[in-house]
Amino acid sequence: MKLPTNGLSKDEVVARMEAHRRTDADWRGGKTFSLIYNAGADVTEVLDEAARMFLHTNALSFSAFPSLRRFEAEILAISADLFGAPDAAGSLTSGGTESICMAVKTARDLARAERPSVTRPQMIVPATIHPAFHKAAHYFDVQAVVVPVGPDFRVPPEAVRAALTDDTVMIVGSAPCFPFGVIDPIPELAAIAAERGILMHVDACVGGYFLPFLERLGEAVPPWDFRVPGVTSISADVHKYGFASKGASVVLYRSRELRRKQFFAYVDWPGGLYASPAMAGSRGGAPIAGAWAVLNFLGERGFVELARRTMATTRRILDGVRAIPGLSVMGAPSMSIFAFTSQTLDIYGIGELLEGGGWRIDRQQLPPSLHLMVSPAHEAVAGKFLEDLAAAARSVEGRPPANEGMAAMYGMLATLPDRSAVSRVVLDFLDSFDRI
Ligand SMILES: Cc1ncc(COP(=O)(O)O)c(C=O)c1O
Repeated sequence: MKLPTNGLSKDEVVARMEAHRRTDADWRGGKTFSLIYNAGADVTEVLDEAARMFLHTNALSFSAFPSLRRFEAEILAISADLFGAPDAAGSLTSGGTESICMAVKTARDLARAERPSVTRPQMIVPATIHPAFHKAAHYFDVQAVVVPVGPDFRVPPEAVRAALTDDTVMIVGSAPCFPFGVIDPIPELAAIAAERGILMHVDACVGGYFLPFLERLGEAVPPWDFRVPGVTSISADVHKYGFASKGASVVLYRSRELRRKQFFAYVDWPGGLYASPAMAGSRGGAPIAGAWAVLNFLGERGFVELARRTMATTRRILDGVRAIPGLSVMGAPSMSIFAFTSQTLDIYGIGELLEGGGWRIDRQQLPPSLHLMVSPAHEAVAGKFLEDLAAAARSVEGRPPANEGMAAMYGMLATLPDRSAVSRVVLDFLDSFDRI
């Protein structure tokens, strides 16, 4: 494909974009159960306005855009306060993956500086940890030591203790994990880390801007934040339950000294002195302004109210799922994310029928399950979702597992000899995305 010789008119460009997005997920209608965290039209309008005002700015230079410096500093200070350590120091990043990569790099660089005997640093992660930790391990040459989770889908602290070696530099837990929405036993894990003098990272990418408000509602929230002794860093995404648009996450460290290990500077470049806190160089200002705008627009009361509505909707959906013969919820979810499975029904077949009805719902594996992440906007569609789910469950009754679509793909992958063969299929799929 070549760049068009003559540019199109603005109307034509817009018309084509409209046409291309016609088949995109209907997130405004509450049909997506992950990817977009929809807090309603008023929040969306605030985000639109922030994007309009700050789209053409660059946070690479805070001297050129002091507004962005201010927004970033305030987002970090608010987050540090919410997570129980007002003096914590952090960075704003493009998303959970970048925050996690930075926490892993920081652990590696601290070990390089203080523990020269460690040549290949290791971090201990639960099997349910987000793959961003494996990506970070791959990028930064840290070994991820995976510990299986227990029947409650939480990592057993004693298994973590047993996995410690002289090369362990960090223990990681989730608050909560993506697949099952349960919070790992953070106080026990942090105590092990403190005892060994190593770091403890809590991945609160999904829970960071939800759990504090659940706690204010008087709900029982297991301890997970900086109030737990031994927790040294936290990742939390403003672009998830902070309801900001994509491109905003924070990584926070208990001390400024620890954060210094994250930074990068190069001072011998003819182009001038260069320093940046995290992975990116140039950074668009729109997500930063959006994150600041939504925190200030909602305020504590707004977030508490959204958490209340989201939990009420979650409980309604949980009850509805449990009432459908053959379906069961996995574990005891700590907030508004959960998975459900079936011993008797073709769960992927149910997922495909739901997708046929316009719902976007994640399939999980090991074991097969469907995954829901509830947003305030699901309040209006929970009843319809449960009706469609019950109908889908009824229509797969007595049917053998589907032999087409996702079930077939997972079935085919299960027959491959090893995980690297599965990985090749997935990478080939990724390779195909640039075909027009
Ligand atoms: C628990 C957890 N950690 C990390 C991430 C990665 O976040 P991102 O997709 O913003 O990179 C996610 C994303 O869903 C998550 O649920």
